[in-house]
Amino acid sequence: MGFHDSSSWLLLFLAWFLSYGCLLAADGATTVMVSNISKVEDAQNFHIYYGQTFKVIKNAMDGKSYLLIQSNSKMAARTKYCTSRIKSFIIPLSNYSVDTDFFPVSFFELLGLLGNMKGMTSNSVASGCVLKLFEEGQIDVINKTEPQQFAQFAAHFVSNKDQPESCNFAKFSPLDEETPLQRAEWIKFLGAFANLENRANQVYKMVKDNYLCLTKVATNKENRFKPIVAWMLYDNGKWSFTKEGYKLKFVVDAGGENIDGSMSKISYDVSNPDDLESLHAILCTVDVVIDETYVSDPVGYNQSTFLQNINVEDDSCFAFVTKQSLWRYDKRVQNLTTLDWFNSAISQPQLVLADLIEIFFPTGNYNTTFFRNIAKGEGIISIGATMCDRDSLIPLEPTVPTCG
Ligand SMILES: *[C@@H]1O[C@H](CO)[C@@H](O)[C@H](O)[C@H]1NC(C)=O
Ligand SMILES: *[C@@H]1O[C@H](CO)[C@@H](O)[C@H](O)[C@H]1NC(C)=O
Ligand SMILES: *[C@@H]1O[C@H](CO)[C@@H](O)[C@H](O)[C@H]1NC(C)=O
Ligand SMILES: *[C@@H]1O[C@H](CO)[C@@H](O)[C@H](O)[C@H]1NC(C)=O
Ligand SMILES: *[C@@H]1O[C@H](CO)[C@@H](O)[C@H](O)[C@H]1NC(C)=O
Ligand SMILES: *[C@@H]1O[C@H](CO)[C@@H](O)[C@H](O)[C@H]1NC(C)=O
Repeated sequence: MGFHDSSSWLLLFLAWFLSYGCLLAADGATTVMVSNISKVEDAQNFHIYYGQTFKVIKNAMDGKSYLLIQSNSKMAARTKYCTSRIKSFIIPLSNYSVDTDFFPVSFFELLGLLGNMKGMTSNSVASGCVLKLFEEGQIDVINKTEPQQFAQFAAHFVSNKDQPESCNFAKFSPLDEETPLQRAEWIKFLGAFANLENRANQVYKMVKDNYLCLTKVATNKENRFKPIVAWMLYDNGKWSFTKEGYKLKFVVDAGGENIDGSMSKISYDVSNPDDLESLHAILCTVDVVIDETYVSDPVGYNQSTFLQNINVEDDSCFAFVTKQSLWRYDKRVQNLTTLDWFNSAISQPQLVLADLIEIFFPTGNYNTTFFRNIAKGEGIISIGATMCDRDSLIPLEPTVPTCG
């Protein structure tokens, strides 16, 4: 930690800021000279504060702060922090690496930052353009068991918890947010590291405007009864229904209704006849099932597999079978294991919403992006480098489904 005279004011500021930071929020500050700023509108778990030559990103979950220092400032040469609460980074980052474990690399594509991505922990990524850069030798795969190897990058982004906390590691946590839009707004977090606030704001606005518009359309589409929707998962002999807030929110925003909380609070053991009876009773009330069961071979998972797992002889009371609405979110998958659901679906929730609206109120003229209907035998789409049909170095435009 550098206690240079010229930077001790900064330390004082940071100490003050960590206690009263909210007073300095971008929208309230009058002395801020930076013209390109991101205001965090929806996300709960991070805040960005702006100074003249630096920014501070504060993570509300772990109380840690990242001090982002403009490379052309005097502070950049003199200041480096790496404490348990504050780390500094020189921005814009000249390069970075990514821990691919549940990391939505699509955020970097939307910002146009793939050119600076130089390392990753594996080639398990659901992005054609990242795979292409890897094949061209632009991105190296570095073994995670040697974390010191990541020191060569200006920043190493991780999204999984329980990671070593080296000085250049930055934690990216959209998955901890409660709603789809809150998760998508984390593009502003990454944008701040590259002085790409304008682009981040622009992408988030497009995503949010479209998402809200689609929500309004879905509300108007509601028939007399909303379809009842169950997200369910089979693991170790037991079925359980989702408790994840963003999934429940997606259903409501798409004009559906979640199964009752009293049904979803427990899990159902298929070897227990009473449990099985209750599970079948619940499923008789459900119109749409989203089967989230993890499988190592999505290609071989079909409706028969599902019916086998719910251990049912007679499926005649299941509306989702007779009306063919049994879905999985593993339509787009790389090397059979890495789902785009954990990538593009996070940065572009408007596409998930459009999928669900088509699922709940089928028109037949919209192809879903993330969901495949196993009741109709729909298969997977395999993501590979050849799918990258654009210049990977320029920003990816968000896909904006027709609304209204
Ligand atoms: C703000 O963003 C615009 C457009 O991206 C850019 O031209 C301008 O240089 C930026 N200004 C600053 C101070 O970063
Ligand atoms: C990574 O390193 C560990 C230990 O050095 C080794 O066991 C493992 O096989 C390596 N993984 C790859 C993919 O090279
Ligand atoms: C990454 O950028 C740093 C400067 O921030 C530089 O020293 C390093 O050589 C670069 N590494 C790679 C792999 O490009
Ligand atoms: C489902 O998959 C199993 C094996 O993976 C296969 O035997 C069966 O024929 C498939 N059923 C349908 C309806 O495709
Ligand atoms: C696909 O995954 C398997 C098993 O995880 C791995 O052995 C193989 O190298 C991967 N293939 C590619 C092309 O990455
Ligand atoms: C959906 O996909 C099929 C097969 O790729 C294609 O023929 C059809 O035109 C698509 N429909 C729409 C509405 O995009």
